[in-house]
Amino acid sequence: MATKRVRKAVLPVAGLGTRVLPGAKTTPKNLLNVVDRPILSYIVEEARAAGIEHFVFIVGRGQGAIEDYFDRMPEIEDALEAKGKLDILADVRRDVLEPGQMSFVRQMAPLGLGHAVWCARDIIGDEPFAVMLPDMLMAADPPALAQAVAAYEKVGGNIVVVEPAPEGEAHKYGIVALDGQDGRLNRMTGMVEKPRPGTEPSNLFISGRYILQPDIFEVLQTQERGAGGEIQLTDGMANLMKRRDFHALEYEGTTYDCGDKIGLLRANVAFALRRPELADAAREAIRELL
Ligand code: G1P
Repeated sequence: MATKRVRKAVLPVAGLGTRVLPGAKTTPKNLLNVVDRPILSYIVEEARAAGIEHFVFIVGRGQGAIEDYFDRMPEIEDALEAKGKLDILADVRRDVLEPGQMSFVRQMAPLGLGHAVWCARDIIGDEPFAVMLPDMLMAADPPALAQAVAAYEKVGGNIVVVEPAPEGEAHKYGIVALDGQDGRLNRMTGMVEKPRPGTEPSNLFISGRYILQPDIFEVLQTQERGAGGEIQLTDGMANLMKRRDFHALEYEGTTYDCGDKIGLLRANVAFALRRPELADAAREAIRELL
């Protein structure tokens, strides 16, 4: 299907990180490390693998370190070069973005995910775009956003990446309703943010990657507050669904919720075990601890 290419991604990073305090007091929670790289480094890598060229970070106060992380740092780069530590230098440079590839928008008040995405409207303009929730680290091959883009190229419209919720946890998420289930890509008929236990329309939760058409901004502009008193992206999408196509893609991979202590720990263990040069030592350390 002929579709406009997805070139931009919105990364809402303004959350306070209450579940990973006090570490997130001075380090934005998405800059906390998983092994030796900040969570955001993996997210940006995933986005680049899906063809994203422009990153729109929706930030709050005190998050200037995010800009610095994706910029050059001559003190460190020169020192590494002088010492001949070229492998570390290459690793450091891997995350540096090109001039003009990143924009920062201040959310100014924590009014919810829908509000955060709406803050990007002028920078996105009139083209489809990705939303990536950076707490959700996804280990997948092809990477999760690339799977979403491939689905988008097939069916167009709007794509929401989903996965089965752990038993009894569906009420913590946005849950989708499907028009029948045939394979991994299915037309959606509804979605609800944080349904009351027992009222979930399915067990598939919205796991943090979206491809959206720019008409979502119109809807978010007047979207009323929903679950938790926040302007919810899920409610905005449910409204837009009345006149636009939405498909849910059950992606293939594993999600780690790094916004939570144990999720962050699991991600650290899992990503260390995936690294060939660290796997043996990591396994040994874990065995010893157990
Ligand atoms: C947000 C979204 C929700 C989604 C979840 C994934 O909720 O609103 O639809 O399922 O992220 O983590 P939050 O985690 O901000 O409560």
